[in-house]
Amino acid sequence: MYLCAMLKTTLLNAVEAGAKELRRYFNNEDLKISNKEGINNWVTEADHAAEKAIIDVIKAQYPDHFILSEEVGEIVTGSEVKWIIDPIDGTINFASGIPICAVSIGIEKNGEMVLGAVYNPFINEMFFAEKGKGAFLNDKKISVSKKSEVIHCCLVTGFPYTYLDMENGPLQVFERFVRKGVPVRRLGSAAIDLCWVAAGRFEGFFEHSLSPWDTAAGYLIVEEAGGKVTDMNGNKYSPYQKKLVATNGLIHDELIEVIHNRKQLG
Ligand code: IPD
Ligand code: CA
Ligand code: CA
Repeated sequence: MYLCAMLKTTLLNAVEAGAKELRRYFNNEDLKISNKEGINNWVTEADHAAEKAIIDVIKAQYPDHFILSEEVGEIVTGSEVKWIIDPIDGTINFASGIPICAVSIGIEKNGEMVLGAVYNPFINEMFFAEKGKGAFLNDKKISVSKKSEVIHCCLVTGFPYTYLDMENGPLQVFERFVRKGVPVRRLGSAAIDLCWVAAGRFEGFFEHSLSPWDTAAGYLIVEEAGGKVTDMNGNKYSPYQKKLVATNGLIHDELIEVIHNRKQLG
């Protein structure tokens, strides 16, 4: 079997192993929750259990591969293949019993994202992409929407756990769209936000402060669905910087102009 086919099998097994823990702990009244930096930046025992289950699957198959995972950080290192893991993207939703959360895993090979999977077990949506081979939702090919004017679009964004008091910050940008009547949703899971752009449910997603595990899988899924992902200045996206704009491609330049207040809507 080719390396990518073998990686895909392990990827899907790892995602399922993590999802099993999400199902096990969901709506558990005694769920143990602790806080990271910030006031409400939670990590739960389910995050740790899912992360361990995922890493166990990967290590059993590929003990030498580089692993970067949200809660444990970097383990192993020094391999050309790197697994980037968010055991639960949308932890606050998860711990509140809101079924908008997912296991997200991206695989980078020699610095290029080659495979990604985002799975929300509560609505049974498995998003998957392989570089150059398209994006899929539950094995059905997906593509981005065809709307071409921001004023007629449905957007999504997210806000960091600690308020970002900066010029053109998350609330100012949010307000700019809302004042013009453009719907901007806030789901609470960046991985799902990206996948829903890929599936054509949203035309665009932007966020000011994300981490590699939030976006590694999702940005490949958007690109493979025919969309575009950049930083907030329209430059090539890297999951190792914080800002992201992901769209159907058609509204990308206009969305960036509005985000920077260089274009007025309506
Ligand atoms: C968070 C979610 C959220 C985004 C935050 C992320 P977590 O991830 O993706 O939508 O706004 O910036 O940190 O903490 O639930 O894994
Ligand atoms: Ca996350
Ligand atoms: Ca997480």
